[in-house]
Amino acid sequence: MILCIGNLLTPAQVSRIRSELDAGQFEDGRKTAGWHARLVKNNEQMASGSDRAQALRAEVEAALTGHPVFQMAVRARKMTPIIFSRYHDGMTYGNHVDDPVMGRGENRIRTDISFTLFLDDPESYDGGELVTDTTAGEQSYKLPAGSAVVYPSSTLHRVEPVTRGQRRVAIGWIQSTIRDPAQREVLFDLDTARRQIFEREGKTAEFDLLTKSLANLQRFWAEI
Ligand code: NI
Repeated sequence: MILCIGNLLTPAQVSRIRSELDAGQFEDGRKTAGWHARLVKNNEQMASGSDRAQALRAEVEAALTGHPVFQMAVRARKMTPIIFSRYHDGMTYGNHVDDPVMGRGENRIRTDISFTLFLDDPESYDGGELVTDTTAGEQSYKLPAGSAVVYPSSTLHRVEPVTRGQRRVAIGWIQSTIRDPAQREVLFDLDTARRQIFEREGKTAEFDLLTKSLANLQRFWAEI
């Protein structure tokens, strides 16, 4: 399941984050790429140590983890620190698959889900599409500022060259309590259906049964 989620950030948040990024320090993104991804990675990332970067990360992380659709889609157990990436002047990130395990020590996580949260308006730059390469063919994503695409980390993907303007995104990885993407999709569908029933009819007997099934499927599948 590849999901686009709109309005994770308000326009006011997006514009404040953009001015913080304008004032931030960026470095070569190859520093955090694995040995083969390094061959095709050409972008910049905000230096992670500053107070500014930490505050921005906390704000974006809170917006994501507090959003009900994001919660339903990812069912997070752990999340990597968010990275702010920037592409301009032809920068690109060729086809690659994200590392299956990231972090060190207690912070090690298995990457089940990747996300890209777009921070610049699509009209303000050319190129920069995130392209996923699945058995169903290629899909291209270039979303409004404040919207994110959430996709299985097992997906081959790339970022097209940015030929005008700049493309800034917040990216990160999640270890889900539900490892299997097909199982996550079952839970997502069931959760969506029960919420729609609740909105239409309130807390009916059918809503209660769906809620029970959703909970019990998680008892079968969840890794805590
Ligand atoms: Ni990637």
